[in-house]
Amino acid sequence: MTDNIPKTMHAVVLTGHGGFDKLKFHRDWPVPVPESGEVLIRVAACGLNNTDVNTRSAWYSKGNNDATTGDALVGAEGEDGTWGGASVSFPRIQGADAVGTVIRVGDGVTHSLIGRRVIIDGWLRDWNDPLNREKAGYFGSECDGGYAQYTKVSHQQVHPVDTTMSDAELATFACSYVTAENMLNRAAVTDEDTVLITGASGGVGSALIQLANRRGAKCVALCGAGKADAVKAVGPLAVIDRASANLGSALHDAIGKDSVDVVADVVGGVLWPQLINALTRGGRYTCAGAIGGPIVEFDLRTFYLRDLTFTGATVPPPGVFQDLIGYIERDQIQPLLAATYPLEELHTAQQAFIDKRHVGNIVVKPFV
Ligand SMILES: NC(=O)c1ccc[n+]([C@@H]2O[C@H](COP(=O)([O-])OP(=O)(O)OC[C@H]3O[C@@H](n4cnc5c(N)ncnc54)[C@H](OP(=O)(O)O)[C@@H]3O)[C@@H](O)[C@H]2O)c1
Repeated sequence: MTDNIPKTMHAVVLTGHGGFDKLKFHRDWPVPVPESGEVLIRVAACGLNNTDVNTRSAWYSKGNNDATTGDALVGAEGEDGTWGGASVSFPRIQGADAVGTVIRVGDGVTHSLIGRRVIIDGWLRDWNDPLNREKAGYFGSECDGGYAQYTKVSHQQVHPVDTTMSDAELATFACSYVTAENMLNRAAVTDEDTVLITGASGGVGSALIQLANRRGAKCVALCGAGKADAVKAVGPLAVIDRASANLGSALHDAIGKDSVDVVADVVGGVLWPQLINALTRGGRYTCAGAIGGPIVEFDLRTFYLRDLTFTGATVPPPGVFQDLIGYIERDQIQPLLAATYPLEELHTAQQAFIDKRHVGNIVVKPFV
């Protein structure tokens, strides 16, 4: 298994902030060499995600107030960084949701991992201080990721998984489902809760539906009008068109009451005041994204007079990934694979991802 590893590989390399021209396909990029504690992985599939789009376009810059469009922010500079605020070091291979086979191990790593199909946990940690969020990084942001034929990562981040799902199906899970489960944990969602989910057709939103259902909560999904049937099939109690003029009355029509216990939000934007207004007294708002716009109108009176609790959700504790593996192996969650593309067609794949006519996630495959 370790004998036939080439010296060079196909890889898509981000060369700076900007448009698609900054994402360059190479046929002769060096294959990484695993260092002590690391493993080398032959990548079978890698899911797309908005962190890649946002980092490329410099959306995380404090100079940007707009929704994610994938268009380059004019005037973006090197210090306009990644999700974590630090600047990006170029060239960078993006791609967080890699699935593949371990083909070589560095010093100190058990050889029993060689030949195992694994999902990569994207969270880079100081493994002597794994709960310290200040020391967290992300695969494909603070180190090279999975838009390549081979990648390397700490052995602590690879998880063998016992399932008949395809590589591409497995590559839909990691980022979205860990984020969604972390949101539900942060909001302490139980089977007594009704949860309103935004961006429900997307990766995190559809994960939120499945994972909230898994713990017995009732879900109400907000999505674009054309996607209602597909989102309904994921299993929420009700689906509401996000263009509804009055969210409270739309909720009343859908579930017989105009408030919910929890809002799990990845969209923000203009609808945000109505989301907060839909929370019952003592309700919880948890947020992991702002694809519809990061700057919102916040009436502090609603927050304190209703005794609301707000949680942000980005860096999860390590156990969340292990929980996810269990849900996959026990068939408690199902993949929503919208399309696969060859890695060489990453521009086309990412444009489809930005266009958002799909439900679930899109995946690229580096060996075709
Ligand atoms: N904090 C973290 O660690 C973390 C992890 C993953 C993702 N995120 C963030 O969470 C957000 C959602 O991620 P995702 O992977 O679920 O995204 P996604 O798969 O692209 O789905 C986002 C969904 O949001 C809805 N939407 C509503 N308004 C939109 C607008 N103005 N532009 C685009 N889409 C809009 C769309 O669904 P409808 O049309 O059906 O409404 C879309 O399918 C992103 O901002 C992402 O960066 C954060």
